[in-house]
Amino acid sequence: MLHLKILVGNQGDVEVLLVFKGQEELGKSQDLYEYLKDKEIFKGDLGEIYSNISPKEDNVIFLGLGDQEKLSLDSLRKAFYKLGKELKKLKIESAKVTVPEFENLCYRRTNMAIAEGLLQSEYSFDKYLSEKKTKHTVKEFYLEVLEDKKDKVQEGIDEVYNIVEGIFLTRDLVNEPAIVMTPKELANRAKEELEPLGVEVDVFGREKIEELGMEAFLAVSKGSANEPQFIIMRWNGDKNSNKKIALVGKGLTFDSGGYSLKPAEGMATMFGDMAGAAAVIGAMKAIGKSKLEKNVVALVAACENLVSGEAYKPGDIIGSMAGKTIEVLNTDAEGRLTLADALWYAATVEKADKIIDVATLTGACVIALGTVNIGAITNNDDLMKEIKEASELAGEPVWQLPSNEEYKEQIKGTYADLKNTGGRPAGAITAGLFLGEFVNNTPWVHLDIAGKSYSSKENGYLPKGATGIPVKTLYNFVKEAK
Ligand code: BES
Ligand code: MN
Ligand code: ZN
Repeated sequence: MLHLKILVGNQGDVEVLLVFKGQEELGKSQDLYEYLKDKEIFKGDLGEIYSNISPKEDNVIFLGLGDQEKLSLDSLRKAFYKLGKELKKLKIESAKVTVPEFENLCYRRTNMAIAEGLLQSEYSFDKYLSEKKTKHTVKEFYLEVLEDKKDKVQEGIDEVYNIVEGIFLTRDLVNEPAIVMTPKELANRAKEELEPLGVEVDVFGREKIEELGMEAFLAVSKGSANEPQFIIMRWNGDKNSNKKIALVGKGLTFDSGGYSLKPAEGMATMFGDMAGAAAVIGAMKAIGKSKLEKNVVALVAACENLVSGEAYKPGDIIGSMAGKTIEVLNTDAEGRLTLADALWYAATVEKADKIIDVATLTGACVIALGTVNIGAITNNDDLMKEIKEASELAGEPVWQLPSNEEYKEQIKGTYADLKNTGGRPAGAITAGLFLGEFVNNTPWVHLDIAGKSYSSKENGYLPKGATGIPVKTLYNFVKEAK
């Protein structure tokens, strides 16, 4: 699946020279560098590239790293993503870079960020194009690393491969249109991808879902001819521990809004409303491949939100596995209904110690935070701290939203215990707090990825379309979990 080989060594046809903005001495190709710098042809801006490639010359590529004081793991990812794209364009087959020690950056993580950026440049979703976009010209990329760090770096590179495979799986699942990616297809793909790694996958159909009493989940699925599926994925990496993390992903394989129908523009990308599910599946792939010594269960309540003679309607009062009743004021606030039952299952059947849910839950979150931050709601500040640390390392920023008790007033029901929308004010918060009613007081963090899971344009090292966020955060969190 990943064609590019990243190797520790010093071979390679082309040498990549790293340049900070305004740097004086390069050590190599100094004359050429000074010429380019004087003429302002190459300044060393982040991701800027100047290639000097010909059959006779010493082949070098200058790669800008931007301001030295601003260097971060994420800027390395961005720069090397650009480099990866450029190597493809130039049809280069092998290249190398000497990786220096940067101030304030761990050497292993530096190499991991470089490897990730290069691998990220390999992604494309072109299975439906008659003429493929991807030409895998670059075969080998060598990292010349400090002698005594070789083993650590190699370990890090292996881990990056596992993580990127998880990210690419997530993207593939999200980019797949709803005509293909039905609840059953999602379950099949989870099996296909995860079972070979030793992840157990169980799938419940309608009958079992009914038996469990998942009435909220079932209500959402009623308008669709495609059977809902409850997907359970289990990785038991630590047989000596009874600790268990649950990762719960929103799995709407299509969200039309139901009878509270979405307008055409809003509906067109709603095949991506299973991005939370795709992220937990991708994270399970990375976790299984890396054989993390943790016990993790991933849960997805997969269904479609459609209109038909059988669909649920605004004004309906429905039950839930938790026994709480819910007034459906808006059938487009469906994600929280499916998640309510999945979360209750995580808390009470799985008896997870920590629950993280990932969901394309609200347009309100996109309005509040745009496409920069994931929005978070929690009932446990320590767990939130763990997620924040994991996300910072990943370069997937998370912003915690307030969750004062007062907000809960908005989702108190009139004729039932709860209502499924709290109106427009603080919509991302009330949606999150609704979920919090179904975790049975288990430490929990909710991640609203509505603004992050899918992008209308290429952005840094993320492609247009599905981004694969927050696979890295979930992976880092599980790896470091106490
Ligand atoms: N899947 C949508 C949220 C969404 C919006 C995801 C834009 C990605 C991009 C969710 O099911 C939804 O429709 N939410 C409603 C809730 C409202 C009716 C309370 C929304 O945000 O408008
Ligand atoms: Mn909706
Ligand atoms: Zn939705």
